[in-house]
Amino acid sequence: MKQIKGPKTPRLWQTIQWSTNPIRYMEDAAANFPDLFKAQIDPVSNYQVLLVHPQAIQEFFTKPEFVNGAKSIVRPVAGDESLFVQVGDRHKSQRKLLMPPFHGARMRSYGQLVCEITDNAITKIPLKQTASARAVMEEISLQVILKAVFGLYEGERCQQLQQLLLYWARLFHSPIFNSLLFFSFLQQDWGSWSPWGKFIRKRQQIHQLLLSEIRDRRAHPDPDRTDILSMLLSARHEDGELMSDLEIRDQLLTLLLGGYETTATAMAWSVYWSQFYPEMKAKLLQEIDRLGDRPNPADIVRLPYLTAFCQETLRINPVLPITLPRTVESPVKLMGYELEPGIMIRGCIYTLHQREEIYPNPRQFKPERFLERQFSPYEFIPFGGGKRRCIGAALAMFEMKLVLATILSRYQIELVDEKPIKPALFGVTLVPAGGVKIVVKGRRVPQQYRQAIANSL
Ligand code: HEM
Repeated sequence: MKQIKGPKTPRLWQTIQWSTNPIRYMEDAAANFPDLFKAQIDPVSNYQVLLVHPQAIQEFFTKPEFVNGAKSIVRPVAGDESLFVQVGDRHKSQRKLLMPPFHGARMRSYGQLVCEITDNAITKIPLKQTASARAVMEEISLQVILKAVFGLYEGERCQQLQQLLLYWARLFHSPIFNSLLFFSFLQQDWGSWSPWGKFIRKRQQIHQLLLSEIRDRRAHPDPDRTDILSMLLSARHEDGELMSDLEIRDQLLTLLLGGYETTATAMAWSVYWSQFYPEMKAKLLQEIDRLGDRPNPADIVRLPYLTAFCQETLRINPVLPITLPRTVESPVKLMGYELEPGIMIRGCIYTLHQREEIYPNPRQFKPERFLERQFSPYEFIPFGGGKRRCIGAALAMFEMKLVLATILSRYQIELVDEKPIKPALFGVTLVPAGGVKIVVKGRRVPQQYRQAIANSL
């Protein structure tokens, strides 16, 4: 029987390495243990097993012995009914209800909205002044979720909710709050001035406002609404029951937590790469310009080079370096290694995306690799996989492509600094260190006008 090994350094040291230089930590470990390894990167749990080999990832995504392991930590933020904390049949049934709004015509109806939100966010940036692309992408990502998911456009409740939801979406930015989630004995309400007390009071406000919104919308159904909340109001479980108000409330908060930071980070990386390689930007623009002035969002998202460019961004900079955790429910073998019940296990997305035999010259940013071959769901996993694969994956890709295409084709932007940007761990995401500083130089003259001007001279 094969023994699971891992770095020999003490847990505290591994935790420090993980939080200060996660890339180095993962690369060193994967070089020494190319199948899987024991990682001690979490201050409270004993150890977890990180999977590196595609075969290990495949078994992890397909074997039934691995069940959700994220339950206790996210419960206070996402809620008891959240998809994040469900297991077994309940999880399956909730996913069935949540998936449809993220596909097909429903999702395509958000195309124009995404382009408008992008235009608003970019035109707000003062010309020729330094701005953080990550901050701008956070604004775009939040607006897309508020409008497309929550259906919040105007009114007093909308204003209040916008502010509270922004606080909520940014909870994980705070190291103090993250420690409170890890060390549950610190979760004490010592009044509104204490961190946990403040959190609980905000949670009450958010819950109340969301429930009022849900009840109002149930009382006054509007068939013209296309947001995800409206769809959930009429969704029924397999037994014919409507989703309860509490279920809908928790799922809305789950979508906000799952979709805000992740999509913003991915888009910030795509802006960075598109500016870092001018020849690739030219190629992207050539493809977009061929669609003519103000192209249809549905045509934009089908563009092959743009799609490959966004996929390569997610390969080289996976937003989450590791998947959500699962725990081993009953004894199981994985690539010949025996795993005991209770062990926490995750796929290591970052090191999988860096395997030379799958991605030759993996450190090079090269969108063409996605045009030259198809990668299996165990080789390219920015959205995880199996029963817990990201439900927002299609929306995220859709948004990433439209936002990048809108920015490139309508504005002239430049990086402030030409030095390569490294990823840094921020909460659970790998963000561009420094936020990608950009300047907006002005509007871009579309291809056909440039041609017309040239002809008239
Ligand atoms: C580029 C953007 C995004 C990335 C990179 C990303 C990545 C991921 C990953 C890696 C997982 C864990 C999958 C696993 O452990 O196998 C996940 C789960 C999840 N994501 Fe995303 N995500 C993104 C955008 C979104 C969006 C836009 C939403 C919703 C609006 C969303 C909602 C969720 C939810 C609800 C889950 C939990 C699924 C479950 O437990 O069944 N994500 N995501």
